[in-house]
Amino acid sequence: MEKNEIKKICCIGAGYVGGPTMAVFAKYCPNIQITVADINELRINAWNHKNTSKLPIFEPGLEEIIIRRRNKNLFFTCNVENAISDADMIFISVNTPTKTKGIGAGKASDLKWVEASARQIAKYAKSNTIVVEKSTLPVRTAETIKNILLRSQENDLKIEKKSFSVLSNPEFLSEGQAIKDLENPDRVLIGGDDEKAIRLLTNIYLNWIPAHKIIKTNLWSSELSKLTSNAFLAQRISSINSISAICEETGADINQVKNAVGMDNRIGQQFLKAGPGFGGSCFQKDILNLVYLCEYYKLDDVANYWQGVVDINNWQKSRISKLILDYLFGNVSGKKITILGFAFKANTNDTRQSPSIQICKDLLLEGAEISIYDPKVEKDKIEDDLKFVSYQVETKWSRKDSIEEASKDSDAIVVLTEWEEFYNINWDFIYTIMRKPAWVFDTRSCINYQKANKAGFNVWTLGNAMENNSQF
Ligand code: NAD
Ligand code: UDX
Repeated sequence: MEKNEIKKICCIGAGYVGGPTMAVFAKYCPNIQITVADINELRINAWNHKNTSKLPIFEPGLEEIIIRRRNKNLFFTCNVENAISDADMIFISVNTPTKTKGIGAGKASDLKWVEASARQIAKYAKSNTIVVEKSTLPVRTAETIKNILLRSQENDLKIEKKSFSVLSNPEFLSEGQAIKDLENPDRVLIGGDDEKAIRLLTNIYLNWIPAHKIIKTNLWSSELSKLTSNAFLAQRISSINSISAICEETGADINQVKNAVGMDNRIGQQFLKAGPGFGGSCFQKDILNLVYLCEYYKLDDVANYWQGVVDINNWQKSRISKLILDYLFGNVSGKKITILGFAFKANTNDTRQSPSIQICKDLLLEGAEISIYDPKVEKDKIEDDLKFVSYQVETKWSRKDSIEEASKDSDAIVVLTEWEEFYNINWDFIYTIMRKPAWVFDTRSCINYQKANKAGFNVWTLGNAMENNSQF
């Protein structure tokens, strides 16, 4: 009986989390009507586009689900009020970026979109609606949401006061494999104290997730677990990136070190791949959030510890820019540099906090001309990401449609995203169309460097000393 109580779900926010998550809910819960509502009309139009290759988000497996579920039990709308008033359960899945001004700027999360959602819910939702935090939020935000839900009704004399249950159900999906993660997560975490609400949300997940993977905690543990998970993952990347620099100095090979270290069961191989620094909308934001929380509670040593993870990440990006400059005789002004990969990782069109942005910025400030190729990132996104550089200097960059076009007449190629098509580039041909000496800088250890070297390139790979590198 209870299983059927949730008939209508609304998700506020049709972004990288809201869209794919609700698509998977719709796939496994055909009897629940799911409406994803967003104030961004362009985004909603793209979700509703007849041509499903125009969806606003690229995720392997997503398009197939949209084709099967859209306008059956999955709807995308700008009419947020209606979607809210219809729902038995509302997920808040809006953006929570780092604050750029005011108290806590640069560290704390900006909760204005969460607050706006809570106010709308208070106004339009039915009483007894279950409100689920899906966005990643600072610890104790659920308290704020509860407060807004109750107190914002005070001015409305006409209505009978409504009550709400608030649950925390953080999302652990990783972009580029969101559908896989949503269909087969390591765990589903539900935080809260309202037994009935917890049971109703659990019942939804039980449609495709085994019971032992659904864990329950109090609200604050749930919120903190999400921040901690991201902090631990990011910490591993900063740790291995710090070791990559030692490898370059000593003649050790970062991939050999990674394999040897990762074979210790207690450590494991995942999240030990050295690279140009972590990007994405979550890691930096969530660690800074943790740092802010520690500072708030006067845990300064703990704050410094986690701040170090972000500092090493920034250091990795800038040291890569510096060494490109060094190898190109200390001057890139008037030189053309090809950037392969602008997304923050492969299999996504997302560029938020992508290391490519910082590295392009450094090279543009040095006067280089940049030619970018990424199979999924559109020109307007790159333009948006690089526009802050154009406020400082006159920039020369272009987006090209292929590796060949981007490489023509360039002095160096910098591989920044591990797209599969970069694994087997025809280096013999690319060498013929570049200026000499031609360089390849591989920050992802993903190219066939022997072939590039044989073709005539000078090859630098992250975490390998140039003089000891087997390609020389
Ligand atoms: P996003 O920016 O892609 O999407 C958020 C959407 O919310 C936007 O389309 C925006 O227009 C909409 N929105 C904002 N305020 C609104 C309102 N009042 N009414 C209706 N729509 C509104 O963000 P995202 O990447 O989906 O992340 C959402 C949350 O999930 C964040 O808290 C993030 O930290 C967390 N998260 C993200 C990931 C990830 O991989 N991207 C993974 C886990 C958790
Ligand atoms: C991350 C978390 O993995 C996910 O659980 C959370 O819900 C959201 O944040 P996401 O940012 O989408 O997911 O991608 P992730 O695979 O974690 O990669 C983040 C960054 O770290 C990327 O720039 C990636 O290239 C980099 N990375 C990842 C490494 O440099 N080395 C690794 O071994 C793994």
